[in-house]
Amino acid sequence: MVEVYRHDVVIVGGGGAGLRAAIAAVEADPKISVAMVSKVYPMRSHTVSAEGGAAAYVPGSEDSLEKHFYDTVKGSDFLADQDCAEYFVEQATPELTLLEHWGCPWSRNDDGTVATRPFGGMTVPRTWYAADKVGFHMLHSLFQHSMRFDRIVRYDENFVTRILVDDGVCRGVVAIDIRSGVMRMFLGRAVILATGGAGKCFPFTTNGTIKTGDGMALAYRAGVGLKDMEFLQYHPTGLPGTGILITEASRGEGGYVLNSEGERFLVTRDYGVGQKAELGPRDMISRAEILEIEAGRGLQGPYGEYVLLDLRHLGEAKIMAKLPFVRELARTYIGVDPVYEPIPIRPVVHYMMGGVDTDIRGATPIPGLYAAGETACVSMNGANRLGSNSLTECLVFGARAGVEAAAYAKGSADGNEARLRSEAETEGARIDALRGRKKGGEKMSVIRHEMQVSMERGCGVYRKQESMNQTVAELAPLKGRYADLVLEDTSKVFNTEVLQALELGNMLDVAESIAIAAAARRESRGAHACRDYPNRNDAEFLHHSMMFFTPAGPRLDKKAVTITRFQPEERKY
Ligand code: FUM
Repeated sequence: MVEVYRHDVVIVGGGGAGLRAAIAAVEADPKISVAMVSKVYPMRSHTVSAEGGAAAYVPGSEDSLEKHFYDTVKGSDFLADQDCAEYFVEQATPELTLLEHWGCPWSRNDDGTVATRPFGGMTVPRTWYAADKVGFHMLHSLFQHSMRFDRIVRYDENFVTRILVDDGVCRGVVAIDIRSGVMRMFLGRAVILATGGAGKCFPFTTNGTIKTGDGMALAYRAGVGLKDMEFLQYHPTGLPGTGILITEASRGEGGYVLNSEGERFLVTRDYGVGQKAELGPRDMISRAEILEIEAGRGLQGPYGEYVLLDLRHLGEAKIMAKLPFVRELARTYIGVDPVYEPIPIRPVVHYMMGGVDTDIRGATPIPGLYAAGETACVSMNGANRLGSNSLTECLVFGARAGVEAAAYAKGSADGNEARLRSEAETEGARIDALRGRKKGGEKMSVIRHEMQVSMERGCGVYRKQESMNQTVAELAPLKGRYADLVLEDTSKVFNTEVLQALELGNMLDVAESIAIAAAARRESRGAHACRDYPNRNDAEFLHHSMMFFTPAGPRLDKKAVTITRFQPEERKY
């Protein structure tokens, strides 16, 4: 049995981008109804864990739209689509201001102006913050504002397993109600994917357990290309062991990165970050940390080698005022109080620049299907995102996708419900067959572990052609073995084993896209640093990678980069 729900717009995901899209859609059209379908309660979305801030030009400051635009494009190693990056910076300030009107308590200077802090790769400070719990405050503000609209109908803890495409047009999604196991069909004239990234393809990540690339995999299987998947951001300051994020704000507020000799190597050695030192972009700092460790200047701990983040000189008062969460995390998870000791840190998988191919409106090539936030690749981040651009991206492109989807929904007709229902029933049968599946002998945890180990080996901070090829070769058989999964739990109620199996299937598709695109990019650009091809090669690789699903296996293609204002130049700081 499949339950049917009808709305104008269906949003998959209830984090920053999904909530912003929902609000924009209902505000754009007073009649429109929106379904927000999420596998978790909105306040458990990963946006909540964001720490350091959101970037936007503050009018009247030393910053400008031009500087934000240029920094973003340069940070992207000239792979960003510049029309998207320019639109982003123009909309950033209105979006952050609006969020304040909805309750987000941006920190202030003594004179009442919005306080900003510098983040990596910025010409001037432009990161708005609320201490170091920015995601929490942003998500609260969005969530509470969304509750003003009874036309936003939430379906929390519903896991979407398929996008319904009929006659080449997106018509809705199929989901499992996690609480009952009942299959649901959410029909909508437009669908927006806002499910975040896929850090869980890797063993060591800042990402929460829920970030399993669901929206990317759904779109991919529905026929949309995944763009620039090889560009994966390692954040330079993760806690060894857990991968918990120690925000870049700690460097923005003046923290030092040290090696085992107590040397500020980003200052004393040439790692391409110039005067920026600790405020260089993430790709360069992550590489510098790896090189220091390889040179024998790392420290050895129970979770491997690491370097240090030193905040002691900031003093307790500043740490408690600006970075209280950093102190709490370091004390709780690694037993270090940064007021008195440096924090062990190492690079950790944090963010995916790539994702579902959309245009500047958030529209995919399938009519009626949109994507926003980390799920999407608009693309404004190119080969390397600047820290604090992504929270703002969720707002800017979430809002745009909401408005566009609402307009599209208004002007389009319903699909053929009988055909869609039959497709949803087939999907229900597929899920039923997974519950307590006894055929085959493969354990989910084994496949997941092998995938993560292979991804770390092949698609790390530094990559080698041979190990990328090896990862590609290892993932295909893992996908074959996935078909032989054995599951224990036969129940319908909160069958988390089935959910994890579905998530693993999504991660395998996403991981394969990352590895194939990486192995094919024979240059170094932004976060893709290949030891065999250490230089950027604009003549051959100034293009987006595109991965397509085909029944015979993934197909790689490319797409032109939009360059409007800034011609590619050597990227040095
Ligand atoms: O370090 C941080 O606070 C992370 C911010 C970001 O990824 O934008």
